[in-house]
Amino acid sequence: MHDEKIQGSAYVQGSAIPGSSARKFYIESYGCAMNFADSEIVASILGGSGFIATADFREADIVLINTCSIREKAEQTIRSRLHIFRQAKRLNSGMLIGVLGCMAERLKAKLLEEEKLVDLVVGPDGYRTLPVLIEAAEEGQKSVNVLLSREETYADISPVRINSNGVNAFVSIMRGCNNMCSFCVVPFTRGRERSRDAGSVIRECSGLFEEGYREVTLLGQNVDSYHWYSEKGGDVTFAMLLEQVACISPELRVRFSTSHPKDITDEVLFVIDGHENICNYVHLPVQSGSNRILQLMNRTYTREWYLARIRRIREIVPDCGISSDIISGFCTETEDDHQETLSLMQEARFDMSYMYFYSERPGTLAARRYADDIPETEKKRRLDEIVKFQNRMSRSSNLKDIGSISKVLIEGDSKKSAAAWMGRNDQNKVVVFTKQGNSLGKGDYALVRIEHSTGATLIGEAISKA
Ligand code: SAH
Ligand code: SF4
Ligand code: F3S
Repeated sequence: MHDEKIQGSAYVQGSAIPGSSARKFYIESYGCAMNFADSEIVASILGGSGFIATADFREADIVLINTCSIREKAEQTIRSRLHIFRQAKRLNSGMLIGVLGCMAERLKAKLLEEEKLVDLVVGPDGYRTLPVLIEAAEEGQKSVNVLLSREETYADISPVRINSNGVNAFVSIMRGCNNMCSFCVVPFTRGRERSRDAGSVIRECSGLFEEGYREVTLLGQNVDSYHWYSEKGGDVTFAMLLEQVACISPELRVRFSTSHPKDITDEVLFVIDGHENICNYVHLPVQSGSNRILQLMNRTYTREWYLARIRRIREIVPDCGISSDIISGFCTETEDDHQETLSLMQEARFDMSYMYFYSERPGTLAARRYADDIPETEKKRRLDEIVKFQNRMSRSSNLKDIGSISKVLIEGDSKKSAAAWMGRNDQNKVVVFTKQGNSLGKGDYALVRIEHSTGATLIGEAISKA
């Protein structure tokens, strides 16, 4: 699951009670949805230790930045944010700065030397120790906890939903990754894969529904390898978990991310097809269309295997939205390999893709084994072609929707106008429609007739409440 799909937006919550002496924390998150979900766990842990959240980092006693290492650019963005925080610290000497997440794990204590004025470095499995580490940092010690765990899933911690719209929530069902895609830093920053207690996932999702949430996204780097052994009732696979979450209420929409092409099973597809409230949408990152490159990437499937999975998805779940991740300019990639990626895209007809040029990450298999030999200008040229091609396909996918009726879960006001609602349909496409003439609200489902599309957004007219 991804990457900087939710890019670097800060999220913060609430405000301090005037005159209160409680210590204040500020947290900002970068990277994939898992990092955002982790920040909600951090907020819960800090809340339990008497901290309150603030929206203004300048007045915070502790400023936390939950970081991503997936590409070099992600780390650069974080370094420039740290620069701003360090300036604030010069004006407020009591302030502590803590680096959390994947960059903390990757750089460990080196971050304290490189980034002077950072007081705390805590990796993804160390958040329970934050209150103790903050105390030590307050006494002037530089605090580091980058131990990775084989067991930690934070299953018992109820995330505090910061910056939430009250409609959609992320729920982590597992942590870490056991795949060793050669380009990827995640196995090094997040450690071994482990699944979370199925009962705690169901409890969290039911609680969210009772609080008024109407959509949960189950998160893991490779959800298809979820496996929980329950002493009472035997094994729980991902297909079973998905079904159990879907059975909480037909009014609760269920999404999940990310599926790995080697692991997604027909069983999961049948569960999707069998439940109206499980969205017809699969994010299935392909990375490349060339078998030679897929092998160097250690993705463990071929182009043919991948395309067969796509056919199977469309057979079992008609109208399924499919999206992908694609990397251009991986080590040794030739023009022919690149053309294979474009032709795979043509065959797969993704509704949407997240596209990147290859960024070598220190310590990964690719960095150790292969030269990063495609010049950046060439990586970017190929990426540009991939992006343009995808845009054409996304447009034609959206044109096909015109005239159809979508069930949309309203998430809030449209970004452009408070006179319009914004939500997403089953296939994860953004739909915008006017509020006029309907008495719908946030968290309602609406049947919307799609009338036209602009870029990535579908524009429609509400017919009725669904
Ligand atoms: N677990 C998910 C992906 C997690 S990372 C999966 O297996 O699909 C999200 C995406 O970032 C990846 O799918 C890949 O396309 C991209 N990515 C990862 N490492 C990268 C690197 N070194 N350079 C460029 N893109 C990368
Ligand atoms: Fe990275 Fe591969 Fe694991 Fe995804 S499956 S997180 S790309 S190693
Ligand atoms: Fe996610 Fe970035 Fe870490 S994509 S797992 S926050 S390296």
